[in-house]
Amino acid sequence: MPGLLSTLESGFVRFRSCVSIAAVGYAALITLLCFPYFQAHLVYLNAVRLPFSADFTTPEKYGLAPNRTLNFRLTTPDSESIGAWFVLNDQHYQSLPSIPQDLSSLIQPALQSRPTVLFFHGNAATRAFKVRVAIYQALTTRWNANVLAIDYRGFADSTGKPSEAGLTTDARTAWNWLVENGARSEDILIMGHSLGTGVSSQLAAQLGDEGITPRGVILCSPFSSIREVLESYHLFGMVPLMKPLHLLPGATQLVSRVLVHKFDSLKAVKNITASVLIAHAEDDWDIPSSHSDVLFQAYLDPLLPDLNVPDFGPKVLSAEEWNHMAEQRKARQVKRAEIVEHTEVPHFGSLDEFEQGDRTVTLVKTHKGGVQDIVKKKFNM
Ligand SMILES: *[C@@H]1O[C@H](CO)[C@@H](O)[C@H](O)[C@H]1NC(C)=O
Ligand SMILES: *[C@@H]1O[C@H](CO)[C@@H](O)[C@H](O)[C@H]1NC(C)=O
Repeated sequence: MPGLLSTLESGFVRFRSCVSIAAVGYAALITLLCFPYFQAHLVYLNAVRLPFSADFTTPEKYGLAPNRTLNFRLTTPDSESIGAWFVLNDQHYQSLPSIPQDLSSLIQPALQSRPTVLFFHGNAATRAFKVRVAIYQALTTRWNANVLAIDYRGFADSTGKPSEAGLTTDARTAWNWLVENGARSEDILIMGHSLGTGVSSQLAAQLGDEGITPRGVILCSPFSSIREVLESYHLFGMVPLMKPLHLLPGATQLVSRVLVHKFDSLKAVKNITASVLIAHAEDDWDIPSSHSDVLFQAYLDPLLPDLNVPDFGPKVLSAEEWNHMAEQRKARQVKRAEIVEHTEVPHFGSLDEFEQGDRTVTLVKTHKGGVQDIVKKKFNM
């Protein structure tokens, strides 16, 4: 049957060329990752300016109530100009006799009467992006909080180029603006989503170092560090991005060495003194919820007995060393069970929580999202 044979053969050739195209594409992607310019574009995706040619001066076009949102610009200490929206809390907005004509005079009373969420969005798109506007609407109405949302440098109508230090400076500038306009630290809730959790962690660590304690830090779909994201990232939810590199000796180390934009939230943990709530949906494609487990564990770790894992190296562990390690593990499990309160909520997810001094650290894992009401309760909004 020559027909079948040649079909099979050409099918195989086609298959082979698909594989080589994929391999070349993969090699190109990894190579690009090694150049800071492309790395920045991959990490921040700030060139994706959704919605297209947005008009930030009229938030009404994106679903916010008339004259409820102040569009303004912040200037950072290194002279970047950052686009920002301040959305008035519901109580204040509804109590006005008519639609306000001058929002700037309402900022101070709003900041002093209700808590404010300082919101840091994820990579790509802008503060006018639909799902983000839906978040401001929920926070201002259901929590009756004010919202300040910024577009980092290099995003939307902000000037400059994104970098880890730059985004942290932008975040701090936004924090300072709130305080200068009359907000108290304990009334500001720092909330980040995805990339924004890296920014939130850096800001919270900086504040912690200065003895400043915000009302809380909420990390939605956080990652432990960009390096770990790359390690666990699956293209289209399927193809592990970095796994093939493990076959090449030294390749993963090379990629992590050239990684400029680290956002190492694990390192920031020890400097964060505020209450922390970590929320993750188990069906998250981009960032697996194991990142949240790792982060929660990092917050918990100082309260657990030490675990000294001996260097493995070429030698084999003695029975004694194994036993010692097993005992340490056991001691940690016992202590963990003592201090962490674990609650399973049927059809919803689970809640883990522990107290440390006067703060609490919470991990909420849900099957399908939907944590707003838990967070509201947690932080007395
Ligand atoms: C919103 O405020 C501007 C002035 O800042 C005013 O011209 C405009 O009429 C207001 N919009 C409404 C619907 O009142
Ligand atoms: C955390 O604190 C250490 C010193 O305790 C300091 O060296 C480090 O820069 C701080 N990190 C951040 C992100 O603030």
